[in-house]
Amino acid sequence: MSGGPSITLKSQPIDGNNTGNAAAQQQAAANGASGSGSSSTPNGSGTGAGTGAGASNAPAEGTRQNSLQRIQQRKQKVFNLPVPQKLAKLSMYSACQAEGCRCTGWKTPQENRHRDVESSYCPEFNEECRNSSCRHSLRSHIAHLDNISSSSMDELLGAIIDMENLFMSMQRVEDEDTKKVYLYLFRLLRQCVLTRQQAVIRGPLGDPPFESPCITKAVLSLVFYKYNHLSPTELQTMTEVAKTFLNFLNHYNFESPSTRRGDLTHEDASNYKINYTRWLVFCHVPAFCNSLRQFETSLVFGRTLLRTVYQYMSQQLKKKCISERDRFPEDKRSIITQMPKFLEALRAELLKDDSPIWDPNYRPPNSFVIQQRKRHQEVTPSVAGGSAVSLGTSKRSSVGEPLHKRPKKEPLERSTTSESVDDLPTDVVMRAMKSVSESKTTNKSEILFPVNVSRDENVKAEEQKRAIEFHVVGNSLTKPVDKQTVLWLLGLQLVFAYQLPEMPREYISQLVFDTKHKTLALIKENQPIGGICFRPFPSQGFTEIVFCAVTMSEQVKGYGTHLMNHLKDYSIQRGIKHLLTFADCDAIGYFKKQGFSKDIKLARPVYAGYIKEYDSATLMHCELHPSIVNTQFIAVIRNQSEILKELIAQRHNEVQKVRPGLTCFKEGLPSIPVESIPGLREIGWKPQVRPARSSRPLEESSDPEKLATSFASVLQSVRQHTTAWPFLRPVTAAEVPDYYDHIKYPMDLKTMGERLKKGYYQTRRLFMADMARIFLNCRFYNSPDTEYYRCANSLERYYQTKMRELGLWDK
Ligand code: ACO
Repeated sequence: MSGGPSITLKSQPIDGNNTGNAAAQQQAAANGASGSGSSSTPNGSGTGAGTGAGASNAPAEGTRQNSLQRIQQRKQKVFNLPVPQKLAKLSMYSACQAEGCRCTGWKTPQENRHRDVESSYCPEFNEECRNSSCRHSLRSHIAHLDNISSSSMDELLGAIIDMENLFMSMQRVEDEDTKKVYLYLFRLLRQCVLTRQQAVIRGPLGDPPFESPCITKAVLSLVFYKYNHLSPTELQTMTEVAKTFLNFLNHYNFESPSTRRGDLTHEDASNYKINYTRWLVFCHVPAFCNSLRQFETSLVFGRTLLRTVYQYMSQQLKKKCISERDRFPEDKRSIITQMPKFLEALRAELLKDDSPIWDPNYRPPNSFVIQQRKRHQEVTPSVAGGSAVSLGTSKRSSVGEPLHKRPKKEPLERSTTSESVDDLPTDVVMRAMKSVSESKTTNKSEILFPVNVSRDENVKAEEQKRAIEFHVVGNSLTKPVDKQTVLWLLGLQLVFAYQLPEMPREYISQLVFDTKHKTLALIKENQPIGGICFRPFPSQGFTEIVFCAVTMSEQVKGYGTHLMNHLKDYSIQRGIKHLLTFADCDAIGYFKKQGFSKDIKLARPVYAGYIKEYDSATLMHCELHPSIVNTQFIAVIRNQSEILKELIAQRHNEVQKVRPGLTCFKEGLPSIPVESIPGLREIGWKPQVRPARSSRPLEESSDPEKLATSFASVLQSVRQHTTAWPFLRPVTAAEVPDYYDHIKYPMDLKTMGERLKKGYYQTRRLFMADMARIFLNCRFYNSPDTEYYRCANSLERYYQTKMRELGLWDK
C-alpha cells in the first residue's frame, strides 16, 4: 500500500550538512561523542530528528530532500576519491594494527589538523599519528585493509559518512531521549566500522514487526470493511486515500516523548517512549543512514503507536490536504475531499476495542486483495505530481551503497497478500471479475428495468436517497427527550400494537418507553413504519429483541431484513455478539432468514433471568460475526456468487470442449502418463503431489516445541468457545452419579491442558484422540436433543477449523 499519492511532508532529517567537513569534526567523531565537533551548519537549521513536530518549526519536504541529496553527493564524492585518499579516510576510524597499541583511529598531525582528506589533502602513509600513546604511522592503521575490494571499501566509507552525520545531528538535537538514540547508533556504526561487521540492532527494543496486524494491513482491511460496497471508481479513490495516509505516516516525524509527556496517560507515555525509540532506530534514522536497515513505519507498527499519535497526525494531514489541494491533479482531488471521511472512519476503528480491522485473524477475501494489488500496480507512483517524493525503500539505493548486502525486504505480513495454494490463478479471477463488472455496465436494459435487483438493493437505494431513515431512539429520565423522539416512540408503539395483536397494549407502551429499552426505528416521510424494540445486556454479551414489526402495507419489501441488519451492525459496534429473541410462531420463518436458529449456542446461565420469557414463543439465537458488515453482506455475497457463476461458466466452456480421441494406443504405446492427456489440466486436474515429509506441516516429526505451542493455542481457543462450558472440567460422580457406569475413558479440556503441560502430546494423533474422546463420550452419554449434544457438535466443528488453520488437520 505504500508508495501511493504523496503530499508534501514535514520531516526533520538527519542533517547531512557536514559537507566539506573539517578534519576537526572527523576527529571528534572518531573520538566518540566527547569530541568537540563544530555545531555550525551551512543552513543553520539546527534541528535534529525528533526535536518536536510542531508544524511551525518543521522543515518541509524540500529540506529533507536536500539533506538526502547532500548525503548522497558527499558519499559519491568520497567514492570518487583516489584510493590513497580513501584509505586515509578509513585510517581515521581503523584501529592501529601495531602490537599492543590501543589507538582506535589515525589522527592527523598537528600541522595538518584542519586539512580535509575529503578534498585535496592526502597524508603520506608514513606520517605519524598525533595520538601520543600511538605515534604509529598511517600505514599501521590500514594494514588490515590490504586486500579489501573497492566495493567493500565504499561500503565502509558510506558507513563512516553515516556515522559522521549522526555525530553532527547528535550535537544539535536538544531532546535528551533522541540524543541518546543517536549516540547509541553512532557507537554501533563506529563499532561496525572498526570490526568490519554488519550493523545489527539487537537488544530490549525487540525485532520488527512490533505489533500485529501492522498499520498497513489494518488500513487495507478498513478499505474493505467500510468501502467494499462502493462502485469500483469510488473504491479506487478510497484505496488511494488510504495509500496517501500510509505515505504520510511513513514520512511522519513523531514528537519526542518529552513533548508528549503532558498529554498521554502514564501507560501510553511509556508505550510511546518505547515506540518512539523503535521508530528512530528502525525507521527514521535509517532513512538517512542507509548503513542501517530501514523498515517502514506502517509495516512494523500497529494500533498502539497509531493510537498515541493519531489525533495530532490526522490534524496535520487534514491541514496539508487543504494547503496542497492545488498541487493535486484535477482527477485526484477526490483524494483530498474524501480524506476527512476516511480519517474519521479510521479514528472510530482505532478507538473500538473489538474492531475487526485490528483483529490479527481478520482478512479481506482474496478477490479483494488481488484487486487491490492490481490497482496498486496500475496507480502511477507520482499521482500527486510536484516535488514530493516517496522515501520508501525502493528509492534508498540511490543514497550511496549500503554497508552490507541486505536481503531483499521481506513482505512482513505475507498472509495479507499471499494466495493459498488451492486458489485459482489471479488472472483467471481477475478475468471473471472484469467480465461480471462489464456485464453490469453494458446490460443497459437491466439498468432501465431492474427486474433482478433484490429487495435489499431497493431498500439501500431508498436509504441512500434518504427516502427512508433508520434511527435508534429511546426514552430517558435523566436527559430531556426531544419532541421528535417522543412522536416516533408513540408511532412505534402503534406499529407494534397493530402487528402484534396478542401483546397487551400497556405492556408494549411500558417497554417502548422503558429507559433500558431502545427502538431501532424505520422512518418514512417522518412516520415510523417499522421498528425493533430491544434491550442490550452488555454485561452478558447479548441483546434481547423484544418486538419486531413492519406496518402491514410495507411488509415483504425488504424493510424487515434491513432493520435486522442495522441492529446487527449496531450491536457489533457495541461489542455485542449475540441476539436472542422469543419469536412468535408465525415469525420463526422470518427470523430463520435473518440467521436466527432454535439451536441456542449461549449457555443458559448467560441469559436466564435477564431475558423476558414467553410461553407460546420460541427462543431463537443469532451469533454475530464482528468482521461482517451486515448491511453490506447481501451485496457482497451476491457479487461473489456472480463471480463464482462466471468462473463456473468459464470452466464449463473448457469442459464442454470435445477433443480428438487418443491414437497413441493404436500406435502401440502400452500406457501414457495421465498428465499428457489433452484437456485434463484445463479442466482443473492437478497431479497429486504428496508433500515431502519435511514440508508437511507440523507432523509427528516436527519440532516438538512448535507442536506444543500449536496445541496450546488450539486448546485455548476451544476453551474460550461459547459451547465449551460442558467440557471444561471432568464430570464428577456427585454431579452425574451414573456417568462412570457408561463412560470408561473420560476426558475433558482441563485434563488435556495438564497433559499438554507434562509433554504428553508428543504427536498430533495423541492430541486428536483425546479431543475426539471428549465429543464421543458426550454423544454417547447424552441424547441428540440435549444442549450438551449440540455443544459437542458445535465445539467439534470449531476445534476442527482451528486445527485446519494451523495445518494440523488431514484434508
Ligand atoms: N414467516 C415466514 N417468512 C416471513 C415472514 C413470516 N411471518 N415474514 C417475512 N418473511 C420472509 C419474507 O418472505 C422474506 O423472505 P424472502 O426474502 O425469502 O422473500 C424475508 O422473511 C424477509 O422479508 P422482509 O421483507 O425483509 O420482511 P418484512 O419487512 O416483511 O418484515 C416482519 C418481517 C417484521 C416479520 C413483518 O412481516 C411483520 O411485521 N410481521 C408481523 C409482526 C410479527 O410477526 N413480528 C414478529 C413477532 S416476534 C417478535 O417480535 C420477537
